[in-house]
Amino acid sequence: MIGYTKVIHKICFVVLLTAAMFGCAGVDNSKLLTETDYRPAYHFTPLANWMNDPNGMVYYDGEYHLFYQYYPEGNVWGPMHWGHAISTELVEWEHLPIALYPDDLGYIFSGSAVVDKNNTSGLKTGEEGVMVAIFTHHSMEKEKAGTHDHQYQSIAYSNDKGRTWVKYKGNPVLENDEKIHDFRDPKVMWHEASQRWIMTLAAGQQVKFYTSPNLIDWTFASDYGTGVGAHGGVWECPDLFPMKVEGSDEEKWVMIVSINPGGPNGGSATQYFIGDFDGKTFTSSQTETKWLDYGTDNYAGVTWSNAPKDQKLFLAWMSNWHYATEVPTYTWRSAMTLPRELLLAKKNDAYLLKNYPIAAMETTDNNIFYNLKNAENEVEIDAEELREAQFHCSVSFDMSESNEFEIFYGNDSAYIEIAYDKSLSKMTIDRSQSGYDFKGMNDNIITFNCTPDADGKLEMDMWVDKTSMEIFINKGEEAATFLFFPKKEFSNLRFKTGNNGSIEKLKAMRIE
Ligand code: FRU
Repeated sequence: MIGYTKVIHKICFVVLLTAAMFGCAGVDNSKLLTETDYRPAYHFTPLANWMNDPNGMVYYDGEYHLFYQYYPEGNVWGPMHWGHAISTELVEWEHLPIALYPDDLGYIFSGSAVVDKNNTSGLKTGEEGVMVAIFTHHSMEKEKAGTHDHQYQSIAYSNDKGRTWVKYKGNPVLENDEKIHDFRDPKVMWHEASQRWIMTLAAGQQVKFYTSPNLIDWTFASDYGTGVGAHGGVWECPDLFPMKVEGSDEEKWVMIVSINPGGPNGGSATQYFIGDFDGKTFTSSQTETKWLDYGTDNYAGVTWSNAPKDQKLFLAWMSNWHYATEVPTYTWRSAMTLPRELLLAKKNDAYLLKNYPIAAMETTDNNIFYNLKNAENEVEIDAEELREAQFHCSVSFDMSESNEFEIFYGNDSAYIEIAYDKSLSKMTIDRSQSGYDFKGMNDNIITFNCTPDADGKLEMDMWVDKTSMEIFINKGEEAATFLFFPKKEFSNLRFKTGNNGSIEKLKAMRIE
């Protein structure tokens, strides 16, 4: 009897050892994830509680300022403040005290900030350049009273590099006389040719332009938006700026407008227009709706004012109003997208606004944990680093002889599936099996059109950070940003091309 038990023990030991050495089918050793595992490692998040739009993004004296819609007392939207952080390179952030608190005129909604270099406002008091924030005051009392004039524009200024802010005594500087229900999110820029400040303001499903010599007295100039672009929801957070077309001297004006709902794949999204602006009026011959990002989680993004070398640096809120208040993080809510550089290109005679993470996000070769040696048509990455879910994967497919490829990212029970069909020029991203249910929106398959370059190559960059993926095609010709909240860690990343296709390059790097 004893001998028999010993034999059974021996057999069990051998079986367990073999399983441990070679992995055992059916044994799932992925870690169960908790809220702490969901906090992004390399994206901006508030230390605690609710955040939405980026606000007042401005560069001054070596510091990038990021203000943001913030409710410090709860994890859902509430009385809005401007939270504040600074960075010298847009990668590491230092949290600063709240910059603007709600007051008698209302909550502090979205807006912008500028450096008033010539002190046109007369608000400069010391040696430092004066920074002026232009934002919407939102009165809850008036909103409840239903008077429709509950949103108006105000300013605040700082003479100590953005550390403390004083609200202007004469607020608001732009009243809502026409009683436009949605009248908000001023983005202000200096227009050299007319020597005026230009305010681009969202008003219902349009934008309105105002001009000012001093940031205080504003005059209506024109509006734009009727019959153009997408109109499935209210327009919010516009931005307007000139850009040179890559590789040429041609200058065009870019206007970014967020829309909610009415995005191409459900809920909130960001559209753009390319045209001309003469200091008062925006014109464009664009007939189709253009999207800056086709994913579900890139909203309210605008560019930094006064950025060095006139770079157009963009950052957005990485969420969607459809489900933002319900995502499964409780001590904090929401992250920003990666900071991205915008470039204006021309492809097949059409203007294209490209967006791609800034160069400072790239990591060193020491962080590479997978590097493909020879072209293959199937690759599987099962590295330990993958489980930490903070990586950048850069892959190049040769599609000249092939019609499709597929990407799987997941574990044995949950996953994201990405598929490309060249004959339809169509990319599809399916996060319906990724874990958490996004109030039904995860059943929407994210789709967009894209094509390989002239040599048949399609490049794809995936930036994964715990619960988000930002995908860029051909270095930002198309982008798709989306959230996912797996219950167990994703431990497997697979790439597969159709017949005659190949994966030519594939590199995966850990991002700290
Ligand atoms: C966009 C937005 C803005 C508004 C702010 C309020 O997400 O709705 O239009 O100013 O959020 O928090």
